[in-house]
Amino acid sequence: MRIDPWAPEQEMTYEEMMREFGLEAFSLEEFPLPDPIPLFRRGVVFSHRGFETIYKAIEEGQEFKILTGLMPTGSMHLGHKMVIDEVIYFQSLGAKVFIAVADIEAFGARGVELAEARERAINHYIVNYIALGLKPERCEIYFQSNRKEVTDLAFIAAKKVNLSTMRAIYGFEESTNMTHLFAPLIQVGDILHVQLEEFGGPAPTLVPVGIDQDPHLRLTRDIASSLRKFSVKLTSDGKIGVFLKGNHSLGGVKSILNKVKRKIEKMGYADFKMIPKYSALYVLGAVESEILEMEEALLSLDMELGGYGFYMPSSTYHKFVSGLNKQKMSSSVPESAIFLNDSPEEAKKKIMKAFTGGRVSVEEQRKLGGEPERCTVFEMNLIHFVEDDKELEEIFSECKEGKLLCGQCKKCTGERAARFLKRLAEKRKEAKEKIGDYIK
Ligand code: TRP
Ligand code: SF4
Repeated sequence: MRIDPWAPEQEMTYEEMMREFGLEAFSLEEFPLPDPIPLFRRGVVFSHRGFETIYKAIEEGQEFKILTGLMPTGSMHLGHKMVIDEVIYFQSLGAKVFIAVADIEAFGARGVELAEARERAINHYIVNYIALGLKPERCEIYFQSNRKEVTDLAFIAAKKVNLSTMRAIYGFEESTNMTHLFAPLIQVGDILHVQLEEFGGPAPTLVPVGIDQDPHLRLTRDIASSLRKFSVKLTSDGKIGVFLKGNHSLGGVKSILNKVKRKIEKMGYADFKMIPKYSALYVLGAVESEILEMEEALLSLDMELGGYGFYMPSSTYHKFVSGLNKQKMSSSVPESAIFLNDSPEEAKKKIMKAFTGGRVSVEEQRKLGGEPERCTVFEMNLIHFVEDDKELEEIFSECKEGKLLCGQCKKCTGERAARFLKRLAEKRKEAKEKIGDYIK
């Protein structure tokens, strides 16, 4: 089974995707972030890869980066807002922010011209990001087509994959256009380029996305690992070995492995076995869960040998918001979505027509209570409009008990949405003047 990042709906459930692709469950018990936003408190961000690297950086006050991308087609809706809520949150914790406008991907996968993509990106997405509170300090928004480091790195990354891997991940067809085929490599370039010297050098990097983007992260992590000068592995006889890649003289291998040994010794290991013929240094007594830390300890040596020294990118995955019609919220189905550029009145009207967890009649609802678990209106409150946990709980239990009816509930939600959109529209006016401070 595959995830298709360009499909409107995924075939698998969240649990199936996690199992199939080895994603970790995300929880605040494991990662007690400071002042977590509702997305984290309420299980909307439900999964991750390698978040421990980011958490450690936050805990220890180390530098970290956050990178995400926007597809400049359609209009920004509430589903798109989640990633930016995460970006703004991590920016407040000190992350340096990068945002890619995926204009090459839009051209390759959706047939949108670059000029059209630019206009869409600015007026529908970037102004809203700013209006939502993205700060210009330590933040850069760029266009894929305009950043040579990204396209150059995509080309180098391409050296590490072949067609059969691309087809195994994405299921491309014989007829797939080459620009579409190359788009994921550009995304690899997006994700990794922020660790180049020009952009501040190697550092833990978080990529917050919807789960449909996971194939790109798998590809990126594979490539980041192939680009390394070392691999650290559990061997078939249960030992942890550091292997030097590439062609070197035997003397060269020895001297490099001795440097490796000194780095690993600093981590507290004392027992080694070096077999230069195999380009291998075995770290005796080490266990599999320590591999990541060893790899990180070798990044500076990787750079000394002409490598990039990239940290493995980490990612968080949020669930999709349901559309108002209960399918996925989609730009191409205007009734399914609340767009950030909608007028307050439009939004109210859409919410009045939304799919709820209400019963067939008022009598039934009074008797049985509603089903907020399957209600798109409740979900909207949960993700976007009700910050206060107590208030949300009240809505939930009053609905369950049949005290709150859908008409009234939709009206209140419509008003919350209207207040939010009205404020946002005001902020958008100022945001337009400031765009130049963000685009690099
Ligand atoms: N492919 C993403 C989308 O369809 C956009 C994107 C481009 C992106 N580059 C990225 C997302 C880098 C995360 C990281 O929305
Ligand atoms: Fe949804 Fe509100 Fe109706 Fe409950 S009362 S089902 S939360 S709209």
